[in-house]
Amino acid sequence: MADLSVTVAGVTFKNPIIPASGTFGFGREYEDLYPLSLLGGISTKGTTLDPKDGNPPPRIAETPAGMLNSVGLQNPGIDAFIRDALPYLQEQDTVIIANVAGSTVEDCVEIARRLENTKVHMLELNISCPNVKEGGVAFGTSCESAGAITAAVRKATTKPLMVKLSPNVTSITDIAKSVEAAGADAVSLINTLLGMRIDIESKRPILKNNVGGLSGPAVFPVAVRMVWQVANAVSIPVVGMGGVASGKDAIEMMMAGAQAVQVGAAIFHDPFAPVRIIREMNEWLDAHAYSSVSQIIGRVEPW
Ligand code: SIN
Repeated sequence: MADLSVTVAGVTFKNPIIPASGTFGFGREYEDLYPLSLLGGISTKGTTLDPKDGNPPPRIAETPAGMLNSVGLQNPGIDAFIRDALPYLQEQDTVIIANVAGSTVEDCVEIARRLENTKVHMLELNISCPNVKEGGVAFGTSCESAGAITAAVRKATTKPLMVKLSPNVTSITDIAKSVEAAGADAVSLINTLLGMRIDIESKRPILKNNVGGLSGPAVFPVAVRMVWQVANAVSIPVVGMGGVASGKDAIEMMMAGAQAVQVGAAIFHDPFAPVRIIREMNEWLDAHAYSSVSQIIGRVEPW
């Protein structure tokens, strides 16, 4: 068995596979299926300062090789996360990544402050949610605003700070460079691609929010391309995600330059996907005589 451990921003993960924010709740929902200690880490559902109900339904639509969501950051708020979800997560022997979301810079700063004395290992600042009218992707689409919110949260926390980037931009490498310059310790990408479906009989968009974020295998090649570009543009670690559904997908994402890999939409049709992917990675590494997963990071050989 190859050594699957990786280090991102000074935090060691026993393996590189992390359920992505919004696809795994706060972890406890999966406790009957497998020990969460099998996972490299867990990125928790995006948490705002106050509780949020999210967008009205329908807020999920199927697409060829993927899905659209317009959940709108439904969550119980940071105090409920710290009080109700964190004590359980702390006992699971896995890395806890708290996904931080907000409609203002001040909200995100306050969330980071409230997490400062908790046992959360890392913050993932979500500047890329396409489903809320304020904040979310609005922070992540200009270098200035992405840099400004990163700098403000950086000052509010001593924990490793990862910034989750949107693919709905002209140049994701420019955004990555600005958050790096503002003090981010890592970047994660990609969040969902903005999409839309229409019911042609009713002429209504399928999502009540009209538009939503596309994830699943359909976005995988876009994610690999962006991970590769960003990994070559910044010096901080890149955590890759977007349509990863198999161990070979995860290996490909890491060859593109990802130090670790988040698994999202795959969990909705196969809740065992993260543990299956860990097993499949191991099998591939053994079959190719690698002793450590680190040996494949960034090893793509471009033409
Ligand atoms: C949502 O809750 O709308 C999804 C979160 C995200 O895409 O950042």
